[in-house]
Amino acid sequence: MQNKKQWLLGITMSCLAVGVQAQGKPEDMKRGMELMQQQMALMTPELVQKAQALSPEIKKFLMHVALRHERRSDTLTLVQVMQEIMAEHQMIGAAIATDNGAMAADAARRLALHRLPKGGMLPYLPIEKVTTDSLSVLPSMELAVEGNAQKLAEAAEKGDMVAAAQHYGDMTSGCVACHMHFRGQPGASAYTPRLK
Ligand code: HEC
Repeated sequence: MQNKKQWLLGITMSCLAVGVQAQGKPEDMKRGMELMQQQMALMTPELVQKAQALSPEIKKFLMHVALRHERRSDTLTLVQVMQEIMAEHQMIGAAIATDNGAMAADAARRLALHRLPKGGMLPYLPIEKVTTDSLSVLPSMELAVEGNAQKLAEAAEKGDMVAAAQHYGDMTSGCVACHMHFRGQPGASAYTPRLK
């Protein structure tokens, strides 16, 4: 419990330091802290300790992610959320290829504002990656995936499918970069495969 209090204090201090105005309204900050508290309540003590040691900037970034993504699941894991993201990704590809701007734009916006898994993202990362250094790439990954998804949506809505296809490529580089950074063996199963 003490750990959680310290984590929240860390977020509060960082929000104050960076300026609440830049973050948004005070009620948003209060809501953001509630959301972080809910995530923390689901984490193991080992992860709480690692999370608590993160820099104020990373904590603030995680809070901003929790706030902005309004679909939050109490049950789904990161793999399940990723599968949903992949389905949107495929839908965007199909829409671009068939010149369907409305379909591409809707799927891209759903992807940009994807669902959050139970407990947020940290519980699903290898524990040694839950450090300020390792997580410092997160904002640029978010920009690559979600930023380009938003640009894609705007281009597709205007009927500019050539630009949409370019954003699609840039967005996909964001998926690749994040997987290279945070994932071990791609597609590995939690069960031991009986392979010779
Ligand atoms: C912020 C980092 C991050 C970004 C960005 C990201 N992923 Fe993932 N993704 C992960 C992690 C971590 C896992 C492994 C989760 C696990 O094993 O519990 C994963 C797993 C997956 C999986 C599950 C199957 C597998 O091979 O492990 C799919 C499918 C997937 N991602 C698709 C995507 C797509 C499509 C995008 C881009 C639109 C994307 N991801 C962007 C971090 C990311």
